[in-house]
Amino acid sequence: MQILKAYSETLKTYFEQILVTKDPVTLYEPISYIMSLGAKRIRPLMLLHTHKIFGGDVKSVLPLAAAVEVFHNFTLMHDDIMDNDDLRHGVPTTHKKFDMPLAILAGDVLYSKAYHTISSKSKLSSNYTTQLITKLSKACVAICEGQVDDIKLAENKRIPTESEYIKMIEKKTAVLFEVSCAMGAISAKKSTKDVKNLSVFGRNLGIAFQITDDLIGIMGDTKVTGKAVGNDIREGKKSLPILLAIRKARGSDKKKILRVFGKSNATRTQINEVVDIIRSLGIGFDGQRREQSLRDLLEPTTSHVG
Ligand code: IPE
Ligand code: IPE
Ligand code: MG
Ligand code: MG
Repeated sequence: MQILKAYSETLKTYFEQILVTKDPVTLYEPISYIMSLGAKRIRPLMLLHTHKIFGGDVKSVLPLAAAVEVFHNFTLMHDDIMDNDDLRHGVPTTHKKFDMPLAILAGDVLYSKAYHTISSKSKLSSNYTTQLITKLSKACVAICEGQVDDIKLAENKRIPTESEYIKMIEKKTAVLFEVSCAMGAISAKKSTKDVKNLSVFGRNLGIAFQITDDLIGIMGDTKVTGKAVGNDIREGKKSLPILLAIRKARGSDKKKILRVFGKSNATRTQINEVVDIIRSLGIGFDGQRREQSLRDLLEPTTSHVG
């Protein structure tokens, strides 16, 4: 965290340089908005830390760190549209605050600027810069595939297996964690083996992160999370707490979960009832234990970004 504190101002300057407002201003407003919401900046932190543990000069890769964060915000802007979410960091999502076409286009600008920052600001030779761009492009494809899997699982009545869920979050979330670490190692000119090891670490941390985010999405407090808690239930998202709850619940509890799950007009009271059932089943604990076991697990799964 100290690295991020030390460089957060420089990173901010990069964001301002990369995302400078031009004409039409309406296109750039959603960009400044999402970049100022108080994000955790975890992915740049992972890039900077990886670079540092391999003995690299952190300052020299700040543009790369800024690029992964800009890219991440592109995915968030589009994700909130897909998830029909109203709140992020306690304030209206970009498409709610501005409008849908602007949020789509502003997301496209963030996407393009991320690549442009790597190609124009990387201080590395073209061989390394190409490797970085290739990694991020592969990650982008995997994220899109993961997002489609997320939608398909939500649409499908069938309750997926845990391994289907893990595969989905591996693609939609963990690959960007993986690539952030990989970019930190590649830019430190490390061997393929080092890049691979750090990639596996990043991917597993990303899986643990999404499991935690899914738990928070159901059992968190909106005041703390800044997210509209319960929306995953309304949208029928097949996240781990839901999978475990449906498997574990019996009788009227199970019926109640299934009746409310995926019901877009479910009332606050119905959502709270389902959350109480999930809690009473001890699912929070199950999810946390799984996250812990995944954190401990550094066995490589299949990479989506090579
Ligand atoms: C949100 O990521 C999207 C997920 C993969 C869960 P973060 O929780 O890192 O969001 P910010 O960057 O802090 O806004
Ligand atoms: C976000 O996943 C994944 C991407 C942005 C690609 P979620 O939809 O589960 O994350 P939140 O809860 O909206 O942050
Ligand atoms: Mg979402
Ligand atoms: Mg989503």
